[in-house]
Amino acid sequence: MAKVYVFDHPLIQHKLTYIRDKHTGTKEFRELVDEVASLMAFEITRDLPLEEVDVETPVSISKSNVLAGKKLGIVPILRAGLGMVEGMLKLIPAAKVGHVGLYRDPETLQPVEYYVKLPSDVEERDFIVVDPMLATGGSAIEAINSLKKRGAKNIKFMCLIAAPEGVEVFQKAHPDVDIYIAALDEKLNEKGYIVPGLGDAGDRLYGTK
Ligand code: PRP
Ligand code: URA
Repeated sequence: MAKVYVFDHPLIQHKLTYIRDKHTGTKEFRELVDEVASLMAFEITRDLPLEEVDVETPVSISKSNVLAGKKLGIVPILRAGLGMVEGMLKLIPAAKVGHVGLYRDPETLQPVEYYVKLPSDVEERDFIVVDPMLATGGSAIEAINSLKKRGAKNIKFMCLIAAPEGVEVFQKAHPDVDIYIAALDEKLNEKGYIVPGLGDAGDRLYGTK
C-alpha cells in the first residue's frame, strides 16, 4: 500500500495558510506556491543516494558526499502543476521536466488528457509528479497511468492539498506510488472541490475564472 507523508515543517505550514487565504492575490499566490514547492522538494529528496568522494580542502583531503547522480524527472500536471516546477528546479536543477496535460471535465469530473511529453529515457528515471491538488484523484491517477504506460517504474506524487476521498482511490489505483502532501483536508464538496482547500488552483495561479 502506498504511504502518505505529510510535510509538517513550520515554514511549509505557514506559507500554506497564506496560499489558502482567499485575499491572497495572484502574484503572491504564485510566489508562495513556488516557495512551498522548493521546501517540499527539499523534504522529498531526503532519501536520494549519496556517494563518497575525496575533496581537497585548503587543509587536507576530506572524504565527503555528493549525490550519486540518480536521474530525476519532474512531471507537472498542466496547468496548475506548472506553478510548482521552478521552485523544485531551484533545488534539483539537473532534473528533466516532462508534461502531462489534463483537465477535469466540469460535468463528469473525469480527467481528459490533451498532452503528454516525457524525457526520452523514461525507464531509467525516477519521477516526481506534481500538482497542487488531489481532489477526486482522477487527474493524478490518469497522469501516473500515462507515465507507467510509457515505461516509468519509480514514481512519487507530490501535491499541496489532498482530500481523503482522493487519497483512498489513488492508493487503490497506484499502491506502488507514495504520496507527499502539505495538508490532508476534510472532504470534497458536491462540486468536487476540496474543503477547506484553496479554491481552483489553476485559476488562482493564472488569474483566470
Ligand atoms: C485541478 C488540479 C488537478 C485537478 C484535481 O486541475 O490542478 O489537476 O483539478 O482534481 P481531481 O483530483 O478531482 O482530478 P483542473 O482540472 O482544474 O485543470 P487546470 O489545472 O487546467 O485548471
Ligand atoms: N481542483 C482544484 O483546483 N481545486 C479543488 O479544490 C479541486 C480540484
